[in-house]
Amino acid sequence: MDVSPPLGLLAELTHRCPLHCPYCSNPVELTTRDVELSTEEWLSVLSQARELGVLQVHMSGGEPLLRPDLPALVSHAHELGCYVNLVTSGLGLTAARLDDLVSRGLAHVQLSAQGATRERADLLAGAKAHDRKLVAAALVKEAGLPLSLNVVLHRQNHDQLPGIIELAERMGADRLELANTQYYGWALRNRDALMPTAAQLAAAEPVVRAAVSRLRGTMEIVYVVADYHEPYPKPCMYGWGARQLTVAPDGTVLPCPAASAISTLALSSVRDTPLSEIWYESPSFNAYRGEEWMAEPCRTCDRRGLDFGGCRCQAFLLTGDAAATDPVCSRSPQRALVDLVLSRPGVSDLVMRR
Ligand SMILES: C[S@@+](CC[C@H](N)C(=O)[O-])C[C@H]1O[C@@H](n2cnc3c(N)ncnc32)[C@H](O)[C@@H]1O
Ligand code: SF4
Ligand code: SF4
Repeated sequence: MDVSPPLGLLAELTHRCPLHCPYCSNPVELTTRDVELSTEEWLSVLSQARELGVLQVHMSGGEPLLRPDLPALVSHAHELGCYVNLVTSGLGLTAARLDDLVSRGLAHVQLSAQGATRERADLLAGAKAHDRKLVAAALVKEAGLPLSLNVVLHRQNHDQLPGIIELAERMGADRLELANTQYYGWALRNRDALMPTAAQLAAAEPVVRAAVSRLRGTMEIVYVVADYHEPYPKPCMYGWGARQLTVAPDGTVLPCPAASAISTLALSSVRDTPLSEIWYESPSFNAYRGEEWMAEPCRTCDRRGLDFGGCRCQAFLLTGDAAATDPVCSRSPQRALVDLVLSRPGVSDLVMRR
């Protein structure tokens, strides 16, 4: 089959992070510092990614500001001609560091927040973080960079949605991403405490709709639905190995940021294989490309070009078979697995990421 080059690279520079978000999509088994790629290895990853066609680099983690070589990596990606986005908790961002990153070509900052009020946000971050995020947002605006605010929504903060929208307005965010939790890594571990109720989701809909219309032209609002509650799955990654790749802190190359969870997948590393070979030829990237791998009901479904059968990681995590129809789908013979999760009473105890 015809394989297009990737457009985006998610560079997970480290799994280390000063926060402890219980909804974090990073794996429960976090990569330790001693096996992180070196500066030279990341520079090579960036060069190889650009050669492969990548135009957008998202520096993420963990907390990318914990890598002292972040400025060198931003410079290199910018000099290669890439648009460079920093995905950050904001902790560790100072005026001097930001000015330096901007002078090296940083083009955009995506800042995350945990809630609308200091009390709730700090509780959910497991650290005193909220006030520092307000400072980080102000620095980004002063530097003249576009600012996106990303807030992961769940049972423990859905009630703050109106306040979260006000927070984004006060920050002067150009874009607000309201992302209902995706259940990977720590989020999967905390699923019963994070799963929003149907009533919470119903209450959110008019709030988001009103804000989208009131703020049109000022702030773009993106609402990522709670897929367990939907009849059809998300078009995960717009197809496996189709548009984006992720390089994990230890150099493992992932077709989807959550793919390290698929234990049946033979993943490749930039430490032993060139990135282009991994993108075009590796068993992991070719495993679920196109439609050949699909079984029924996806194989003959009229929606397969829209959602690509859903998320392979979610299929594996819920059914044990990464080639199964995403059980979120109402046409999946295993939808009962998702309904069972939705029928369970929520719990309040959170296991914080550590
Ligand atoms: C894993 S974080 C790493 C960067 C940085 N530590 C931060 O939180 O902004 C990358 C982005 O994913 C979002 N995120 C984390 N866990 C998520 C989940 N379970 N579902 C959806 N988005 C999630 C965060 O809000 C953040 O915008
Ligand atoms: S989501 Fe929270 S815990 Fe996870 S990497 Fe980002 S700030 Fe750290
Ligand atoms: S059966 Fe497969 S292709 Fe059809 S809607 Fe469900 S997940 Fe999508």
